[in-house]
Amino acid sequence: MEHQASVMSDWVLLGLIAALVVLLLLTVFGFVVYSGLFTEVVVSAGSPPVSNITLAYKFRVGPYGESGQLFTDGCSISSKLCSIGVYYDNPHTVSPEKCRFAIGRILSEGDAKPSEEQIKRFQKYGFKIFSFPAPSHVVMATFPFTTPLSIHLAVNRVHPALDTYIKVSKCGMKSVACVRWTVRGFSC
Ligand SMILES: *[C@@H]1O[C@H](CO)[C@@H](O)[C@H](O)[C@H]1NC(C)=O
Repeated sequence: MEHQASVMSDWVLLGLIAALVVLLLLTVFGFVVYSGLFTEVVVSAGSPPVSNITLAYKFRVGPYGESGQLFTDGCSISSKLCSIGVYYDNPHTVSPEKCRFAIGRILSEGDAKPSEEQIKRFQKYGFKIFSFPAPSHVVMATFPFTTPLSIHLAVNRVHPALDTYIKVSKCGMKSVACVRWTVRGFSC
């Protein structure tokens, strides 16, 4: 009798553990899906989503995974502005230690003038100031930024999609507008 009872409770325990593992896996899976695992990457070409912008940025060479800290730096100086990341190289073909990137905050866009006070503040913390002219034609894609994992999913899914699009439409051969700059913009 006693033996039977302990076998029973072993099964109950095993069942509970199995149920917990299944729940954990479902949660992890849900998290990855929410981060953008299956989000369709739609690439298009046309007029850009931004006009000319003035930004405060820091330039670095190294693995793109290290860019997160710079976003945090920018956010801590001014929480209201939008972040921007410029990734010059294709991380799938250029070795990580040679990848160039610039991360910062958009100070103003279009006809608006950036405030002198803000420029000084960013410069004080080692940021440089640069103005991008408005691009006339861009290849673009958007990806949701819902969790920190989204960034890794985006790097692995958006870059190849952009490459394929550029290769297929052969615009890389025709015009400088297709120089690959991956710009990432979002608010903190
Ligand atoms: C955008 O260009 C206009 C015209 O050249 C200029 O007046 C304006 O300051 C520029 N804006 C930014 C944010 O650089």
